[in-house]
Amino acid sequence: MDKLVIQGRKRLKGEVKISGAKNAALPVMVASLLASGENVVNRVPNLADVKTMGKLLVNLGAGFRYEPGRAVINTEKLVGYTAPYDLVKTMRASVLVIGPLLARTGMAKVSLPGGCAIGARPINLHLMGLKKMGAEIDLEEGYVIARCKRLRGDVIYFDIPTVTGTENIMMAASLAEGTTILENAAKEPEVVDLANALSAMGAKIRGAGESIIEIKGVNGLRPLSHTIIPDRVETGTFMTIAGMTGGDLLIKDCRPDHNDALITKLRESGVIIETMENNTALRAFGPDRPSARDIKTMPYPGFPTDMQAQFMTLMSISNGTSTIRETIFENRFMHVAEIKRMGADISIEGGIATVRGVTKLKGADVMATDLRASASLIVAGLGAEGKTTIHRLYHLDRGYERIEEKLRAIGAVVDRQRDVL
Ligand code: EPZ
Repeated sequence: MDKLVIQGRKRLKGEVKISGAKNAALPVMVASLLASGENVVNRVPNLADVKTMGKLLVNLGAGFRYEPGRAVINTEKLVGYTAPYDLVKTMRASVLVIGPLLARTGMAKVSLPGGCAIGARPINLHLMGLKKMGAEIDLEEGYVIARCKRLRGDVIYFDIPTVTGTENIMMAASLAEGTTILENAAKEPEVVDLANALSAMGAKIRGAGESIIEIKGVNGLRPLSHTIIPDRVETGTFMTIAGMTGGDLLIKDCRPDHNDALITKLRESGVIIETMENNTALRAFGPDRPSARDIKTMPYPGFPTDMQAQFMTLMSISNGTSTIRETIFENRFMHVAEIKRMGADISIEGGIATVRGVTKLKGADVMATDLRASASLIVAGLGAEGKTTIHRLYHLDRGYERIEEKLRAIGAVVDRQRDVL
């Protein structure tokens, strides 16, 4: 296991290039199961989750090759339809294979992902949709077993606009008989990116990015060739780092328009953000001290839950008191105990965190608990006085490509070391 040692309180300055979005790369890689042939996905970030997804696809008989920034997936012959527990337990996004496997082979056996640090993470809405499209779904020994000769289109309403649920059904519906209408669909940019990849394969999809998506099933799809959108959470994390360190960062290869809610809140808290190079780059200047702002996480285009922990860290040194409401996941405040050890003044009352700004945080040993919480600890360490050591770095490696390289390039003093903890 690794740890990251950070010497904080430096005004960071420099340029950072954003990698491809993890949460777009994973569903697009899975979409390759829908077609037989050689699929190419560009701008795939070099992350643990991408390697795990590669292993899962190989387990299904696909060929998988990863070159810097590119995944090549050969799906000429699939030999199986099982996503085993040992792979699914490390990466919940494995559930995305249920829809495509059903559509391609008529059969899917996928380990139920179980909960994770941030919540129970049920997939009932995924299964409801597939059942509605004619699949027989059984639960045996912790596995979902789904069968269906040919899925048929139907109207599917999601009680909650589930991101991977929308992606799963959109992929399944692409090869179903007839038309599927998704109502209360997720509108995340990653859903739109997947829809664009599927359309290039020959799928007939209208309305991605809106609440109603229409998918007209076709009989076959071409192998995909797609370039992944930039990671809006990595972009948001670096904008927040500029805010936390009073820094001046040029953030390139990004999509500011995917971060409207976050940019508005950061601007209101005093971070100057200028978009440039026709909306593919931005400049973020941090203030001496951020102003307190309240946030409430919501489905896109609302404030992203994946940026809640990082923004809370920024608010921990604000000039006032802010309330942070997390409405998407039931347990996404695990970073609070860690930044409190660094001197933050935060109390939690039923899903709402009250953050009373302090003048500065102090470095400490802290523990990463989940991917985005670990990012908030980096933000905290960069802004804190003294040394911060972040343990259990594997959480971070799931979602941030070459993080210490990118941080050093903007002047941060960080060092990755083996950990005994
Ligand atoms: C996706 O997770 C992302 N993961 C998450 O990012 C992100 O936090 C989340 O969307 C919300 O934006 C990927 O895209 C791989 P949901 P997902 O289904 O699809 C409930 C990260 O850090 N729900 O939109 O699993 C669920 O419990 C990860 O990169 C059901 O009740 O999230 C949650 O409360 C973390 N039944 C809410 O809906 C279902 O069948 C939103 O979940 C499905 C979801």
